[in-house]
Amino acid sequence: MSPSSGTACAVALCLGSVACGARPAALLATAEDDRPLEPARAVEAPAPDLCEPTAGRPAPQALEKTYRGVLAEARCQAEVGVIMRGVAGALGVKCKYCHVSGDFEAMTDRKLVANWMAVELVPKLRTRGGTEVACADCHRSAGEGAARILHWPRDRQWSIEWMTTVLVDRFETKDGDPLTCRGCHEADLGSAGFQGQLIGKSRLERLIHEIVSTPGG
Ligand code: HEC
Ligand code: HEC
Ligand code: HEC
Repeated sequence: MSPSSGTACAVALCLGSVACGARPAALLATAEDDRPLEPARAVEAPAPDLCEPTAGRPAPQALEKTYRGVLAEARCQAEVGVIMRGVAGALGVKCKYCHVSGDFEAMTDRKLVANWMAVELVPKLRTRGGTEVACADCHRSAGEGAARILHWPRDRQWSIEWMTTVLVDRFETKDGDPLTCRGCHEADLGSAGFQGQLIGKSRLERLIHEIVSTPGG
């Protein structure tokens, strides 16, 4: 990564070493270098935990509400901002990519997609190395955070290549089974039942678990 592209990287380092303790950091670890799937995992550094009371600092503020999506692992209010900056850095976007200005609570289509990623996709997978999956593990292009990893407008040929060489090659199910195209897309590419649209659908868990374990799958 070039020095000029250091913003996302700095965020990632903060995430790993300063902010959040083990759980959110694992979800949000951002690659430090150009390799898409071996991101710098959170380094256990003896840095202050924003959610732990620390002498000389104001007491950590409790969460204002319960989150079930991208923020599900936030433990205190300070971590909301930390996780959000991490997500923005991982995808190489600004806050307004997902939020309407002035109202972070308002729902948007991209917030829904981000929550779907966090709730439906990420927890079903692990890397082939057995580590937890972070947004940045998929959301990288040429070493930079990228939202539209399948290109925009979406490129079908590239989608097939990315699915084959990145998704299926470098990830597996949480249980360690290999991923197959039809495990997520309901049928093999080229057959009539192939479902191209998955984001927003809540059937991914059933699919990955039932179809992947079918003999010959
Ligand atoms: C990729 C999309 C995305 C980006 C980029 C993003 N957010 Fe968020 N943000 C979300 C989602 C989704 C939620 C709700 C999380 C949940 O429900 O667990 C959220 C929630 C929040 C909340 C809490 C709102 C509430 O309902 O209480 C705040 C504050 C926030 N974001 C701030 C930010 C800031 C600041 C940035 C930029 C540094 C940012 N977000 C970037 C998707 C995003
Ligand atoms: C296993 C791979 C993978 C992981 C991990 C992953 N995503 Fe995605 N994400 C995708 C794919 C594939 C798309 C479709 C990209 C496209 O249309 O170019 C996508 C699209 C998105 C989009 C829509 C982008 C757009 O502009 O249309 C958002 C927002 C998003 N992901 C957020 C997240 C967040 C937040 C995380 C971490 C909680 C995450 N993703 C983790 C694979 C992943
Ligand atoms: C872990 C689940 C998963 C697996 C396994 C998977 N994909 Fe995907 N694939 C996705 C997601 C998520 C998207 C984005 C879908 C969306 O936009 O709704 C996608 C999108 C695509 C698209 C673009 C579809 C469209 O209509 O725009 C193609 C083509 C594709 N995948 C092919 C494949 C192939 C070929 C394989 C096997 C080598 C495969 N996928 C394996 C999750 C998966």
